[in-house]
Amino acid sequence: APPPGAAGSVKQHISSLVASSLRATAPQVDDVQPMVEVCAQNFGDYQCNNAMGLWPRVQGSPGTSFRNPNAIGQAIAENLPACDAIESTSVAGPGFVNIVLSNTWIAKRIQDMLVNGIKTWAPIVPVKRVVLDFSSPNIAKEMHVGHLRSTIIGETLARILQFLNVYVLRRNHVGDWGTQFGMLIEFLFEKFPNWEELGSQAIGDLQLFYKASKERFDNDEEFKVRAQQAVVRLQGGGEKYRTAWKRICQISRNEFDEVYKLLDVQLEEKGESFYNPYIPQVLEELSNQGLIEESKGARVIFIEGHKSPLIVVKTDGGYNYASTDLAALWYRLNVEKAEWIIYVTDVGQQQHFDMIFKAAKMAGWLPDPNEKKFPKTSHVGFGLVLGADGKRFRTRSTEVVRLRDLLDEAKSRSKSVLVELLDKKGKQYNCGFLFAFLITFQVKYEVRFCSGKLVDWTDEELDKTSKELGYGAVKYADLKNNRLTNYTFSFDQMLSVKGNTAVYLQYAHARICSIIGKSNMDVEDLKMNASISLGHPDERALGLHLIRFSEAVEEACNELLPSVLCDYLYNLSEMFTRFYTSCQVVGSEEEPSRVLLCEATGIVMRQIFQFLGITPVYKL
Ligand code: ARG
Repeated sequence: APPPGAAGSVKQHISSLVASSLRATAPQVDDVQPMVEVCAQNFGDYQCNNAMGLWPRVQGSPGTSFRNPNAIGQAIAENLPACDAIESTSVAGPGFVNIVLSNTWIAKRIQDMLVNGIKTWAPIVPVKRVVLDFSSPNIAKEMHVGHLRSTIIGETLARILQFLNVYVLRRNHVGDWGTQFGMLIEFLFEKFPNWEELGSQAIGDLQLFYKASKERFDNDEEFKVRAQQAVVRLQGGGEKYRTAWKRICQISRNEFDEVYKLLDVQLEEKGESFYNPYIPQVLEELSNQGLIEESKGARVIFIEGHKSPLIVVKTDGGYNYASTDLAALWYRLNVEKAEWIIYVTDVGQQQHFDMIFKAAKMAGWLPDPNEKKFPKTSHVGFGLVLGADGKRFRTRSTEVVRLRDLLDEAKSRSKSVLVELLDKKGKQYNCGFLFAFLITFQVKYEVRFCSGKLVDWTDEELDKTSKELGYGAVKYADLKNNRLTNYTFSFDQMLSVKGNTAVYLQYAHARICSIIGKSNMDVEDLKMNASISLGHPDERALGLHLIRFSEAVEEACNELLPSVLCDYLYNLSEMFTRFYTSCQVVGSEEEPSRVLLCEATGIVMRQIFQFLGITPVYKL
């Protein structure tokens, strides 16, 4: 249930006013959805675009006397219920109704949020239970930057959904089943005859182990045969094989968990092996429906719009990635009762998911989207991470980049950025921007600065701050792009203090906190006793952007696009800068109101930071 006082988004609010106006304007058509958008031009804040579509439907119908679409627009405007949200309306051209929100209403909405919490700004969504399949690396193989993208994007989507009071089942669909395990197990037996007594360390680096066993597999026929037999034994439940398999999985799991811990990511592992027992019954169900056919020795499902069919049983009788995904989808719908199932992988897998979803529709598992909205499935695809050379991101050795190394480097680089700033502190008092950046990070510095002297940070502070700056920068550099586009990984760019970077946003946020700190007013007291006024145009623009937070969240959720929130956040900090440049806060007559606007901006920024997994480095 939405929290008490939840008001939905502004757009939802305006839409409900428009809906009631439409009922009064055109009672004879009762299936018209309100069409409300943010105003494209400066004529208003929102616009209603229903008139043109209504015109052919009401034209000539008994009891109406509209002469043209513009007249319908006039009527829609007049029939809007009396309310305190709308200051004025105007009708343009073929009936576009421009709506200007009232300043007092905007201010009141912000004040409500300040008193009752940001959760009251959560838009209302019609879904309660979601399975979110993300990260999902493969055992014994490298967890590469592609998995980093899936992890970062998935975690952010999970946090957004949870903010909307959706119950999210975070599923790590790890590749822990398949033919490669025969090879790995056989190699383990061969290399470490006493493997059962050895700890997992003995195997050492699992990637190297994988490489070595693959080499053996490719070059030795006899080994290959043994590896293939090992798969059969493992899948048949042979105890020794299962123990070895578990041991290998555990080593990978430990490595994955380390990355998840660094990134502050929560996941529950339900790997491919988990769904294996469900495959036969699921395939039987599909087979009974006549969906499965024989083709070239394999069992397949032919799917409209795809040249080659979806193979669900290989020629050797084994199951594959697709059969596992069909069983997983069945499980998620029937056992986990998910209304929305979301998969986060690179765009390269789009075809695979398209086929799985279509097969599920053929089987009647998913409704026709024209009839019912839920349950539904979505594939959240993303592009490649590129290196400076424009090619797939790799290290010099042409190996894939190790995630842990990458995060370590982000941290050490942001540390040197900070150290450099700290070293300059004594000499460069008027190196404005950088210095302001530095001093705003810690109140302590502010104080020292005022007295003309600074002290060094403790190693611990430095370490913590550089970690938060660095990791935040990596996440933001990924999330700010439309996920479908490839992006170039550049430490220099992502750690820059200027431009659309996490470091800049950290700075902007720190500055807001420092302004609030400079005021002697008690923010908690102001929330209850002062009121916000939006007299200056830049003040109003900031206020309006603040209350559009809900819309940004709604859009990010509907489109499964974290970048929408990054854009919103960056614009917010720019609007704040404009406001701060033209409106004096501390020492002005409007100080109470403006401190509250600063506070509201800080709260919204921190909420989005939380979505994006960025820890603010400055706390009041
Ligand atoms: N393990 C796969 C990979 O690394 C991703 C799995 C995505 N989830 C799924 N249900 N297929 O490409």
